[in-house]
This record gives sequence, C-alpha cells and structure tokens, in this order.
Amino acid sequence: MSARPGLAPSGGFEPLAFTALDDAEGLARAEAFRAAMRRRRTVRDFSPRPVPRAVIEAAVMTAASAPSGANQQPWTFACIADPAVKARIRAAAEAEEREFYEHRAGPDWLEALAPLGTDWRKPFLEVAPWLVVVFAQRHGIGPTGRRVKHYYVPESVGIACGLLIAALHAAGLATLTHTPAPMGFLNALCGRPENEKPMMIVVAGHPAEGCQVPRIGKKTLSEVAVFL
Ligand SMILES: Cc1cc2nc3c(=O)[nH]c(=O)nc-3n(C[C@H](O)[C@H](O)[C@H](O)COP(=O)(O)O)c2cc1C
Repeated sequence: MSARPGLAPSGGFEPLAFTALDDAEGLARAEAFRAAMRRRRTVRDFSPRPVPRAVIEAAVMTAASAPSGANQQPWTFACIADPAVKARIRAAAEAEEREFYEHRAGPDWLEALAPLGTDWRKPFLEVAPWLVVVFAQRHGIGPTGRRVKHYYVPESVGIACGLLIAALHAAGLATLTHTPAPMGFLNALCGRPENEKPMMIVVAGHPAEGCQVPRIGKKTLSEVAVFL
C-alpha cells in the first residue's frame, strides 16, 4: 500500500463491486436515465431559494469520482455561497462580457448566440445560491514543490463537469454552464494558484418562478452516432 499526497491510500488490486443486469433491465435503466437527463435544461433565471451545502458537497463528490488520466484527478471545485464573493464575480464577469458582446464577438458568434437571448448582464451570478467554479490543474505540485505532469487534463475535467451537472440535475436543481471570456479573473477571486485554469462556472439553484428557456432541438441518434 502506498499513500500519494491528496489521494486515499491505494495500491494492489481488489474485487470489482459490480451488479450484473439482464438486458431488459439494462435497457429500462438506460431509457429511464435518458428521460431524466432529457429534462435537464440550461437555466438563466434563478430563484434565491437557498440550497443546503450538503447537496453541493454530494454533487461535487460525484464529479470527483470521474475517470481521469492516470487517476490524477486534476480538478478543484471552488464552491461559493458568500454574497460578497458572488458580487465580485458578477462585476468582473459582466465587465468581460460587456467587452465581448460590444467588441470582441464577431458577427458569426453573435448570430449563434441570438436564439438564446443572452447579453452581457449576468444577474444570476448573484441571485443563484451557489456558484461552483471548476478549475483544471494544468500540472500538479509534488511534496517538494516539484512540478508533476498531468495527462489528459481537459478531457478529464470535461467528464467531471458532465457528472457535476448530472448530479445537480438529479438533486432537483437547475444549472447554467457559464464561461465568461476570458475568465482569468476567477483565480484571484477564488484564491486559486496559477497552475489552475478556470474552465467554467456551474451556477446552481432552483429555477425562478415562471422561468422560460429557449425552445431548442437536439440532434437525432442518426445525426450524432455511427454504428460500425
Ligand atoms: C462549455 C459551455 C459553455 C457555455 N457557456 C455559456 C455561457 O457563457 N452563457 C450561457 O448563457 N450559456 C452557456 N452555455 C450553455 C449553452 O448555451 C446551452 O447548454 C445550450 O444552449 C443548450 O441548451 P441546454 O443546456 O438547455 O440543452 C454553455 C454551455 C457549454 C457546454
């Protein structure tokens, strides 16, 4: 057995905990999960109704169970409920987004965003009870301060973000994946070191009463998959 810093003791092998299902039960569960996930929508209008920290902790631990390159778990989740911190993040994000919408975004990008009805204003960053800022650890820092190479960081963190969003949805919460560009300001506001790159803000909470979402479609199976 060996203990690596920050990781539970690991080493050797153990029996896989696995429950085999028959095909019908497997299909029923796959369809039920699909139906549940199909009801997930990105929400931009949140209620201030509080959400217990324990729910966020459980969702983050689901995210942190994700597979990762060489099991390096190259992520940090900054979970923010403090109104003062949320206000600072909103102010910084709106400054960047204003610049983006008014100057940086080209006509193609603005056209792609038009159906979503978004603009530079981001009140949800203060209204929603939780902001989870997901940071990708570009490299690790070993016990002696030595730089440790991390493998497949964007892939690993992307999977963790998917699990985070799914877990929050399963807990009856709405989410918004928010990516102010650029978002380097999040390091200072969340007190994270420079080896951590902010990937997204996952805004979490209950939807506002009467919340509306854009009517959008999803591609069909034959548009997204090929079977060989
Ligand atoms: C990587 C990524 C970045 C996104 N950034 C933003 C964003 O900055 N602001 C926003 O309002 N929505 C953002 N979205 C949400 C998408 O617009 C949304 O997922 C898409 O329109 C599909 O809608 P749905 O999530 O309800 O299926 C982002 C989504 C992803 C996956």
